[in-house]
Amino acid sequence: MKFTKVDFVIKLGGSAITKKDQPFTPNLEVIKTISLELSQIYNRPSLILVYGGGSFGHHVARRYISGGLIRDIKGTAEIHSAMFSLTKILTDHFLQQDLPVFAINSSSSFILKNGNLQEAFYTPLELSLERGLIPLIGGDVVFDSSSGIRILSGDRIASMLAKTFQAKVLAFGTNVDGILLKGSTVPKIKAQEIEKILDHIKQMQEDVTGGMSGKLREIARYLVEGGKSAIIFNITRPGQLTRLLSGKEVLGTNFES
Ligand code: IPE
Repeated sequence: MKFTKVDFVIKLGGSAITKKDQPFTPNLEVIKTISLELSQIYNRPSLILVYGGGSFGHHVARRYISGGLIRDIKGTAEIHSAMFSLTKILTDHFLQQDLPVFAINSSSSFILKNGNLQEAFYTPLELSLERGLIPLIGGDVVFDSSSGIRILSGDRIASMLAKTFQAKVLAFGTNVDGILLKGSTVPKIKAQEIEKILDHIKQMQEDVTGGMSGKLREIARYLVEGGKSAIIFNITRPGQLTRLLSGKEVLGTNFES
């Protein structure tokens, strides 16, 4: 299948769209701002929206994950259900702003083998793009054909989709102004510098999919595999998403190969 090219793959980080320290609590203010900005942008570019688990998926997954696997059957169902709740909240808010988002289930789209991608079913994503829908897909529990069930992070999904749909920009919307070193944003990082940066970053609180260091590793992989450009920016600051989608400079860290 030949895939449509998109302008942006945007990851809506769980730290931005949910209140990470309050279980099952969306950050409605941020979700509303994102939907308003997306609906008001002049000449909206083509995009795929990906989202993270935040206080929905991560909150539940933390209880059941060990050695990268979800070993509890009921836990698997609970994580999936938590992500459905978040999907519903996002979908309702986007629809309120007349954004034709179309939620696609990642556990029905991806199969892993030993944690690596084995199979991907991209047809629903492709057809939604072709028909003018905005695909919306989140991190979730997915089956691993070698053993058990794993979490596939929104970061990984975003980078796989950016590669497959040849996105001009892979953007990670978080609640921080990019990579901060000594309190200020690093404006630009080259792929080969990422390892060095990883050494500098002390994770305050890693989540089950690796927090900021997981994001950096994902970006490194994306650029090595031929991805064009990526950015980590603060999507909770009103106006930043609009600037990004309009091709203007954004407060954040830009990555290139
Ligand atoms: C995790 O996705 C999904 C689940 C825990 C089910 P992410 O790892 O991308 O989530 P955030 O953005 O860090 O919250």
